[in-house]
Amino acid sequence: MLETLFSPLRVGSVELPNRIVSTAHQTTLVHESLPTDDFVAYHEARARGGTGLIVLEATAVHPSGLLTPHTLAGYREEIVPALTRVADAVHAHGTRLFVQLFHGGREQISASPRPPALAPSAIPSLRFHVEPRALSADEIASVVEGYARSAALAAEAGLDGLEVSAAHEYLAAQFFTPGLNRREDEWAEPARFLLAVLAAVRASAPGLALGVRLSADSPAAQAVASEVAAHVDYLSVALGASSTYRGSTGIVPPPPMPENAIAVHAAPFRVGPPLVATSRIVDPVEAERLVAGGRCEATGMTRALITDPELPRKAREGRLDDVLHCIGCNACIAHYHAGTPIACAQNPRTGRERTMAPPAHAAVGLRLVVVGGGPAGLAAAAEAGAAGHEVVLLERRDRLGGQVALAGAAPMHAELAGTLARNYGRLLEDANVEVRLESEADPAGVAALAPDAVVVTTGARPFEPDLPLAGLETVQAWNVLLGPRPRARRIVVADWGGDASGLACADLLDAAGNDVTVAVGSAALGETLHQYQRNLYAARLYRAGVRLEHHLELVGVEDGIVRFRNLFAPELESELRADLLVLARGRVPERAVAESLAGAGFEVHEAGDCLGPRGLEEAILEGTLAAQAVGARSPRR
Ligand SMILES: Cc1cc2nc3c(=O)[nH]c(=O)nc-3n(C[C@H](O)[C@H](O)[C@H](O)COP(=O)(O)O)c2cc1C
Ligand code: SF4
Repeated sequence: MLETLFSPLRVGSVELPNRIVSTAHQTTLVHESLPTDDFVAYHEARARGGTGLIVLEATAVHPSGLLTPHTLAGYREEIVPALTRVADAVHAHGTRLFVQLFHGGREQISASPRPPALAPSAIPSLRFHVEPRALSADEIASVVEGYARSAALAAEAGLDGLEVSAAHEYLAAQFFTPGLNRREDEWAEPARFLLAVLAAVRASAPGLALGVRLSADSPAAQAVASEVAAHVDYLSVALGASSTYRGSTGIVPPPPMPENAIAVHAAPFRVGPPLVATSRIVDPVEAERLVAGGRCEATGMTRALITDPELPRKAREGRLDDVLHCIGCNACIAHYHAGTPIACAQNPRTGRERTMAPPAHAAVGLRLVVVGGGPAGLAAAAEAGAAGHEVVLLERRDRLGGQVALAGAAPMHAELAGTLARNYGRLLEDANVEVRLESEADPAGVAALAPDAVVVTTGARPFEPDLPLAGLETVQAWNVLLGPRPRARRIVVADWGGDASGLACADLLDAAGNDVTVAVGSAALGETLHQYQRNLYAARLYRAGVRLEHHLELVGVEDGIVRFRNLFAPELESELRADLLVLARGRVPERAVAESLAGAGFEVHEAGDCLGPRGLEEAILEGTLAAQAVGARSPRR
């Protein structure tokens, strides 16, 4: 089973032990442009789990190419001992280690003070609003020299290979993408810069494997693929482009982008060298199908490995059901954009490899009641159960999942909710957790279970604004998600922009045949959503014909009409006619159970939204930590 996936692959001078690749991804486990101890531990965990090849994150080859303040500086002498530590840690497990050589060109995410951005031509970039100047011929020579120097330093550090990033419309791609290169000198020729870089890198590190990463959905990349292929040991393809909202979503595509999204784009890159294909490959069986079916020679499974570093080992041992599947929530890339260390919403140990050990069997078994079956409660129950404690989980509804299950009604979140439910179904089963649905947690009922401690994770409920809303049918977004959904009506969704519920309702209500307007009550649509999810929502709603009215603060209802004032100029009033008003105005914590159980003398630990509504990542982290805190104490009995 999975024979092809776990067969070795030769890439130039290097043999990979299998075809599972952790492709380049910035971890923000970087201090002063060098890897930290956490960086080493992060990659060692993926190597220990059996990953065949790790490609280290985009590493600047020149001071002008630092994408963020947390980009590795591959051109600095000090990178050598730092990378050697990573190589030693990774090689100890048989995994091969490459580094991605990178220059962002006109793409720059840096905070001030920023260096001037350099590009083939002075063409402003839309997404990060960068205004570059055109590289001089001397500067191009200096950047090419930076690639060569960085390659030599990586070789000195003991790495096995190098990957030149020419994907995502970064510098090398800016040279070969029509419209971005308006030069009239010899660098006008599309592939010239990339070929010059490859020649310099090869000459500088001849013993190392050499590859190029391209964006498979870029016609310009397809056009240069054959020419480039003659100079490399492998090609790597992903999706997306950094410079536009639309393009950027493809870089780390969230669902409902289909699983294995890269597969349909791979064919033009079957031009000789082994092909590593990446994007939304989450299942080892699918990875095997792609490799065995000749779509590619190896599969990047980057978020899959961020979620579960043990995925390759579990798959090889036939323990496919034990794999914790990535849900595509993109909390990982959100950390990158926020400049904070990498984390996974589902796996709190990601990025905390040095400080949070896997659950160990507790010396003393405790009895624990967990109240609430949303993500915080699921995480607490799974963690405590895995440590050998006896756990009863009480959920007052007829199903688990809390707000995630609710969100799962919408197409944008259905896969996420389904995969999370599947993951926790398995974890709770393994951990022997007793789940009681439709069970209220009153003090008498909890006392009957004689727990040593109670973890309360009762979540949140919708905020009820104190506004004059009489005279028009009004419904909370959560109730729309719960269903049933009204049909053939004029609906206004008053969305505060702090979560996805209003947009999810608009999507569903439009699909049900209603005439829907979203009154956007924030500076931008879906202001707090991760940008890639927001981009997809905007595309869906525009395509569906949902009207988006911006900068509207809900004032109330008068004579059956919904009234608003402008967010910034409140004297400007407006109104929208509707026969149903949907409210998405934020949440308030559900604290009653925690207070009543604490009042009855139980040892109460709280986690997640009942402490203060936030997101999935906080819920799972706090649920896990609460279970650990309970496990660390001695029993009362
Ligand atoms: C946090 C994060 C940082 C990333 N940084 C890079 C990078 O440095 N260079 C790169 O080529 N791709 C980068 N990517 C894209 C990944 O290599 C990969 O192509 C993408 O995550 C899609 O693959 P997946 O569905 O297996 O996660 C990054 C992805 C994530 C999640
Ligand atoms: S944070 Fe979400 S998208 Fe990223 S690896 Fe974890 S589960 Fe997958």
